[in-house]
Amino acid sequence: MLSYQHHYHAGGQADVHKHMALCALLTEMVQDPTPITYVETHAGRGLYDLTTPEAQKTGEAERGVLDMLKRRAIPNTHPYFKMVHDRKHYPGSPVIAQRILRQTDQIHLLELHPQEFKHLQSCVRGNNVFLYHEDGYDTLLEMIPPAPPTPVRGLVLIDPSYEIKSEYSFIPQFVEEVQTLWPQATVMVWYPILEAGLHVDMVKALQALHPAAIPAEAMFTNERALGSGILLLNAPAYP
Ligand SMILES: C[S@@+](CC[C@H](N)C(=O)[O-])C[C@H]1O[C@@H](n2cnc3c(N)ncnc32)[C@H](O)[C@@H]1O
Repeated sequence: MLSYQHHYHAGGQADVHKHMALCALLTEMVQDPTPITYVETHAGRGLYDLTTPEAQKTGEAERGVLDMLKRRAIPNTHPYFKMVHDRKHYPGSPVIAQRILRQTDQIHLLELHPQEFKHLQSCVRGNNVFLYHEDGYDTLLEMIPPAPPTPVRGLVLIDPSYEIKSEYSFIPQFVEEVQTLWPQATVMVWYPILEAGLHVDMVKALQALHPAAIPAEAMFTNERALGSGILLLNAPAYP
């Protein structure tokens, strides 16, 4: 399987939506001095060269982050603004996390695709970074809850490609297991909004776990996908 490669889509409108939310959430979380464990089940390659033929083939970055920069549509007070000043290299979620998190935080990144994993190894390194060339779902369940002295407060980002349609029904069960094993974790689930509407039942099942969770959805006008959705479960409380 594993035919999906994120460099065709990096910097597209869905990435802008997801990464703006991730930047805002992590920036809030680091206001609290208690260290964080950050885990991604589907990390991707970390940094994307927007000048490659693959990145330019779909034109998604051109209609996404590059268009927003051209139109000055990203507020310069938003933490995402600082991430995207370099128009050639677009940061994926692992690089965003590494730029915002502190040395006292831990970053665990899982990625199954051999090529993507190799890229990830070359761009995200550090004493507090742990990379796993493994299945994101199975391995995450083996890693949690973080054992002391690893920080117990944390964020799990679940950002699959949904290549396998059963992921829509599997994710709520997976999130339930994550939260049983690691109740302190905040969980962020990204999903595409497609014509087939497969996300609808998944969102309902996730909301049944956390009735307070409200989906944040952004709709597109000129993309194959209709939009992008994020559900944040067990969000930290801020004044
Ligand atoms: C949407 S991309 C991730 C993008 C990344 N989170 C970001 O925002 O920069 C999904 C990634 O999951 C990887 N992948 C697919 N199935 C996986 C699995 N079972 N475990 C871990 N990684 C997987 C794919 O190779 C791909 O790189």
